[in-house]
Amino acid sequence: MDGNGRWAKQQGKYRIFGHQHGVQSVREITEGCAELGVEYLTLYAFSTENWNRPKLEVNALMTLLVKTIRKETKTLMKNNIRLDTIGDRDQLPDDCRAELEEAIETTSGNNRMTLILALSYSSKWDIVNAVKSIARRVKSGELDPENIDEHIISNTLTTGKYPHPDLMIRTSGEHRISNFLLWELAYSEFYFTNVLWPDFRREHLYEAIREYQKRERRFGKTSEQVSNG
Ligand code: IPE
Ligand code: MG
Repeated sequence: MDGNGRWAKQQGKYRIFGHQHGVQSVREITEGCAELGVEYLTLYAFSTENWNRPKLEVNALMTLLVKTIRKETKTLMKNNIRLDTIGDRDQLPDDCRAELEEAIETTSGNNRMTLILALSYSSKWDIVNAVKSIARRVKSGELDPENIDEHIISNTLTTGKYPHPDLMIRTSGEHRISNFLLWELAYSEFYFTNVLWPDFRREHLYEAIREYQKRERRFGKTSEQVSNG
């Protein structure tokens, strides 16, 4: 979800104004995905590197997060959406973590769609922790290094219980991954749009999905192999 700051600047407003308006896009895209039958939606809300932004902006984002979670839990329940997070929850302010944990608990029985917020998340952080955890299992004798495979690595990441993304959408005209799901995006389709996140609406989501539907996912195979099933 990129472009909140620029969206605000274009109107001569403070960056936080853009973040506030981005919440409406989150609402609409979450509902839009659930309606379409998307089972997992991951939103990259705050990266490890975002902690280096000015304190004022970081604080405003955390306050916005707490307020939004508190306000939206009812809607998540109504829409049968389960909430989860990936990232370093321990870095979040106490009130923020408490609010999140409550919402995660409250929505834990919902099964129409899982909404995963990437918060204080970066893929390198996740990979480093996974390597440490695997190394500990090897050291304790529980795991033979020869048995380390893709599945063990996938399952050790914080995304372990979720399938890898089919489609990655980045808004605001930037063409970067920015430390997002580096391992998990290995065979995802990428879609880039110039639309800034606060302007991103259902119609833009549908356009991304229509574009995705035209792609041929070969996973390294030839077109002939794929079309012959
Ligand atoms: C995305 O918008 C939201 C967060 C990273 C929290 P930005 O804040 O990155 O907006 P731009 O890129 O400065 O326009
Ligand atoms: Mg940005």
